[in-house]
Amino acid sequence: MDRPFVITLDGPAGVGKSTLAKRLAAELGIAYLDTGAMYRTLGLALGADAADLPEEELRRRCSSFVFSLERGDGEAWLLCCGGKPVGGEIRTERAGRLASIVARLPVLRSELQKAQQSLGRGFSLVAEGRDMGTKVFPGALRKFFLDARPEVRAERRLKELLARGESADFETVLNDIRARDEQDRGRAVDPLRPAPDAVLVDTSDLDLDGVLRVLLNSVHAAFGRDGLHSSSDAGFTHLAEDGSLRMVDVGDKLETRRVARARAVVEMSASTLDLLRRDALPKGDVLSVAKVAGIMAAKRTWELIPLCHPLNVNHVDIRFDIRDEPPSVVLESEVRVSGRTGVEMEAIMAAQVAAATIYDMAKAVQKDMIIRDVRLIYKSGGKSGDFRAE
Ligand code: DC
Repeated sequence: MDRPFVITLDGPAGVGKSTLAKRLAAELGIAYLDTGAMYRTLGLALGADAADLPEEELRRRCSSFVFSLERGDGEAWLLCCGGKPVGGEIRTERAGRLASIVARLPVLRSELQKAQQSLGRGFSLVAEGRDMGTKVFPGALRKFFLDARPEVRAERRLKELLARGESADFETVLNDIRARDEQDRGRAVDPLRPAPDAVLVDTSDLDLDGVLRVLLNSVHAAFGRDGLHSSSDAGFTHLAEDGSLRMVDVGDKLETRRVARARAVVEMSASTLDLLRRDALPKGDVLSVAKVAGIMAAKRTWELIPLCHPLNVNHVDIRFDIRDEPPSVVLESEVRVSGRTGVEMEAIMAAQVAAATIYDMAKAVQKDMIIRDVRLIYKSGGKSGDFRAE
């Protein structure tokens, strides 16, 4: 889809919004906006006394915080303030309480809401907060309101705090969650409540994967509803109705981020391995050539495997591990794409062709090298979920 779209995730403290929003954004290959982090940043910087500032002064101070979304290492998106990623100091319970206090101030809210809307114009987003569906992105493609019993949320929050090495007890966390609920749901401006057109998801008895499946299915349906993609999902099979072979029409599938890794092993004699290591084989730098060959193979997989779709891969890499026992080169390919089909075949072809290239580059000194154990070792993304070889 070409124009930016927004998916909103609202709900009370401790419901698991952040983790889910991050995972949903990663599945869809779009950015993730944590608006709570914006309130936390201002809460910490301005303190509870911000409520006593004259309106104009508060507006002036708010406008000095410039938020942006930047690509971090790998595929993650980082929320930045003044060009720097917001730090771990906003993740404390104190910062959460201060955020909830300053979030009652209309001037501060309207400044942050403008900043959030402007980010939504630049990128497709999963936006997470309290008023995303009701106020900030009323035209979102899909709105979710997540909820769970306070005791369940307190239990989850407690686990999170203990895992971070913080000391906490259940009663205190539960009281905190109840106080935050009261403050967020009861405030005069933009109180926490579901948008009339939000999908309500009670996560009390679901694990994260279960909730993520519900969200993804609903997003798939929304894409269909808006005519962006048709929702007809009928039987992705390689057989046509008359039993003949066909290439699956993936036009209805949602574009998601997909990664696949494959492995192959080239066994050789110790003396061949020694020559390879010293770059002394007659055809030259074996591993560099094998790497280029693997990358090219990934890009051309659709020409070789009959029912594969042409894909614009985002990234291909081949890593080599030279082992003495038994003498061998173990190579691993990784292919990434934002697309409608997986890249398992691209990864497997990359590993096989890189392995065959090693054979070709070294066959002058040894003909009985063995290429073996070609296999998929990992894949993520797409409807069938993640796979990791034992
Ligand atoms: O999601 P969180 O715990 O990081 O949010 C901290 C506080 O910020 C929350 O108690 C209420 C406020 N908030 C808000 O009022 N509106 C938002 N869109 C996001 C957070």
